[in-house]
Amino acid sequence: MLFYFSATGNCLYAAKTLSSSLNEPIVNIAEAIKKNDFHYTIQSGEKVGFLFPIYAWGLPKPVVTFLKKMELCCDTSLYTFAVATCGDNIGLAMNQFEKLLKKKKIQLNSGFSLPMPDNYVVLFDVAPQEKQKDMLQKADKLLQKISKMVLLEKNRFFRVQKGRFPFFKSTVIHFLFFKFYTNTKRFYATGDCIGCGKCEAICPCSMIHIQSERPHWKKGNCYMCLACLNRCPKKAIQYTKQTEKHGRYQNPNVSGL
Ligand SMILES: Cc1cc2nc3c(=O)[nH]c(=O)nc-3n(C[C@H](O)[C@H](O)[C@H](O)COP(=O)(O)O)c2cc1C
Repeated sequence: MLFYFSATGNCLYAAKTLSSSLNEPIVNIAEAIKKNDFHYTIQSGEKVGFLFPIYAWGLPKPVVTFLKKMELCCDTSLYTFAVATCGDNIGLAMNQFEKLLKKKKIQLNSGFSLPMPDNYVVLFDVAPQEKQKDMLQKADKLLQKISKMVLLEKNRFFRVQKGRFPFFKSTVIHFLFFKFYTNTKRFYATGDCIGCGKCEAICPCSMIHIQSERPHWKKGNCYMCLACLNRCPKKAIQYTKQTEKHGRYQNPNVSGL
């Protein structure tokens, strides 16, 4: 069983790819949280995988929430692995993930970071098409290797890019980012908005509602996944003026995003 969280399709693509090579079903973490669905029965021989994006060198909030509430019911010992998709590197996020699993008395057998095109278009523009294509091809190769390692049930096998100063980035910067840069008050829709309601439908934390054919963000902090901003069909959603200058990203190999 493969649990995934994805805003712009990278983790969904990775989950679908591994689902077909490992013959495992996929479960959407955001939907599971909305439905309060935390109990899963794992059959003997089934592999349990977690796929999630890296947010400021740490874990997305819904992944932490899900892990804390999740109950896996199984008769035999589990084989578990995690894949963290990222633009570049993940700091100590895999260690943090492993610690959370350990609290549930589940051991993490293997873990991988998987570079894919960066969707954080607040700070950076999207990579040029050629670079995206190259990254996605490399990701496909890495996914094949991950699948092999998982089928071989490699134990204590970790291939992660931590980057420089991982402790500082995954503690201090991660904390400051979620305290100061996840407030919905900086989101707005421009005149290009057609009130289609897609942003409301796809927001994984239900922070958007459409009123008078315009999106409105509830007050407070959101997951900062940028699904609304990257997947708006009219590129009408912005987060500060900065994003007006930047492109948008969604994984081109996932249809119907
Ligand atoms: C708020 C935010 C913070 C991010 N922080 C990092 C980071 O610290 N390191 C990194 O390599 N990529 C970072 N990224 C890029 C994503 O992890 C990456 O694009 C991921 O593959 C997106 O997955 P998805 O398409 O399944 O949502 C960040 C993206 C967002 C939205």
